[in-house]
Amino acid sequence: CGIVGYIGKRDAYDVLIQGLHRLEYRGYDSAGIALGRADGSMSVYKSRGKVADLEASVAGKDIEGTIGIAHTRWATHGEPNDVNAHPHVSQSKAIALVHNGTIENYAVLKKAIEQHGYKFVSETDTDVLVQLIDYVKQTNGCTLFDAVKEALRQVEGAYAIAVMEKGKPDMLVAARKSSPLVIGIGKGETFIASDATPIVGYTDKVVYLKDNEIALVKRGRTVEIESLTDGSPSKLDIKTLRMSVEQLKKGGYDTFMLKEIFEQPETLTDCIRGRITDDCRRIVLSGVIENKERFVHANRIVIVACGTSWHAALIGKRVIQEMCGISVEVEYASEFRYSSPFITKDDVVIAISQSGETADTLAAIQLARSKGAFVYGICNVVGASIPRSTDSGTYIHVGPEIGVASTKAFTGQVTVLTLLALCVGQMRGTVEEATVERIAQELKNMPIYIKEVLRLDDQIKNLSKIYTYARNFLYLGRGYNYPTALEGALKLKEISYIHAEGYPAAEMKHGPIALVDSEMPTVVIAPTDSLYDKIISNVRQVKARGGTVVAIITKGNDAIKEIADHCLEVPDVPECLTPLVVSVPLQLLAYYIAINKDRNVDQPRNLAKSVTVE
Ligand code: G6P
Repeated sequence: CGIVGYIGKRDAYDVLIQGLHRLEYRGYDSAGIALGRADGSMSVYKSRGKVADLEASVAGKDIEGTIGIAHTRWATHGEPNDVNAHPHVSQSKAIALVHNGTIENYAVLKKAIEQHGYKFVSETDTDVLVQLIDYVKQTNGCTLFDAVKEALRQVEGAYAIAVMEKGKPDMLVAARKSSPLVIGIGKGETFIASDATPIVGYTDKVVYLKDNEIALVKRGRTVEIESLTDGSPSKLDIKTLRMSVEQLKKGGYDTFMLKEIFEQPETLTDCIRGRITDDCRRIVLSGVIENKERFVHANRIVIVACGTSWHAALIGKRVIQEMCGISVEVEYASEFRYSSPFITKDDVVIAISQSGETADTLAAIQLARSKGAFVYGICNVVGASIPRSTDSGTYIHVGPEIGVASTKAFTGQVTVLTLLALCVGQMRGTVEEATVERIAQELKNMPIYIKEVLRLDDQIKNLSKIYTYARNFLYLGRGYNYPTALEGALKLKEISYIHAEGYPAAEMKHGPIALVDSEMPTVVIAPTDSLYDKIISNVRQVKARGGTVVAIITKGNDAIKEIADHCLEVPDVPECLTPLVVSVPLQLLAYYIAINKDRNVDQPRNLAKSVTVE
């Protein structure tokens, strides 16, 4: 879910709606807005569907006001409909609240306040919170700020909230625990948002609210922050944002996803910048170098992540094992946290997350740290919760990723993991200097290779027409490209809603081969590498069962051409870098199939980009 709040001189409606559009990648089941006016009145509008649906539904209504809160939802409790949309308003109609997160003890709290005559109109946990605040305020006769504080003391779970009160058009209250919240400090105006994107263009001064902090935002006054735990005041730790409005636009492309795919030559340049010396002999990852001892003496490395980041982790495992001679395990963060993991202070845990906000990954980090492990983050969003809760880390620096399906963040993550493997390998003395030099040089050339791969665009667009109506897809790869097969299948699933499975090619004969027929295409990722000959025989096995094969191959290697139905050729790169060059055609193939099916690729159904709930 995404939250925005505003208090200042501008029309709050315009700021909030624009903010919701920028946060829409976080969820788009329903949206809503509450506006306050100088005369003390407050109006609340909500609508099922996207922010545009909300805009259409308020046409002709009173949208005046210079204070407000707004929300775009990814449903957890209660189906997406007008009633369950936020803001939620208390029974007394005096308090409006937007919430991101999950109130775990909501059933207990609900029962308790029902006894005081409160009735619930929605099925959400948020409804319980707003009524609780209302109840506390009325019973104690206190201010909204104190009522929110007291109510939150009774709440278990995760939240980021913004609250406003009818008749008090000069004040907002915001608080957080486990879900992110940023405050933008402008001249005579203040912004509240789930991440910095709604604030960009208005001010570059932000304060990241910490866990268990509550903020009182008053018109024209300095924001006051205090701890929810002991009431002590917190210092305003103002940070400067480095994000431009341009970065948040589509830049001439039809969709954010296509823009982000095509941006990869530049994003990889940014990702590598300053991290490889001119002579390509040394890798300079400062977070790793500063913590040399932890990496050199690490017992093993455990990588935790979710979704696409988990696929990058699988590639990371291979490259780290190859370069560093150290055992690496990869875990889904959501499984790791409940698996009684055996972690010691000699382990290094690497957490990978584009958003830096994924709730499961954050919880896995906290668990690993509590067991004394050294935790290293690989994130994209600067200043997000994960980079702030790790011991050290590296940003991938690929710029804001808005399309829900991750593309440029994946290639950035794989790049940083490769740099990390080389850097640690050098420190441990497990990688040959010539290998470092060769791979570092080829990483520097990567933007050129990716540009070359992007020229496949037309070919893939044409190819996509043939496969748009397939109902199932199989993706096969081996070694470094087993994870890219998983990622290729995930991309197709996410944005086209076609069922796709990624498999290690040799495992196909133990099950999936039963599915192969003339109606199920197989995408085989087969660059020339140490397992090339083996994968050719896997392709033959598919063809022998009447299947059709699209193969991604290294340019100039014609052996598969005679067997496969279609081939996409990528440049010849060292084996550990093949995931980077093969990912791009996989992204484009999924993209065009989804476009042919008229899907909303930037905001596929049921998904959210940043999953800040369990
Ligand atoms: C969601 C997104 C995925 C992403 C995953 C992990 O499911 O839709 O694209 O890979 O979360 O997100 P993270 O921000 O932690 O990388």
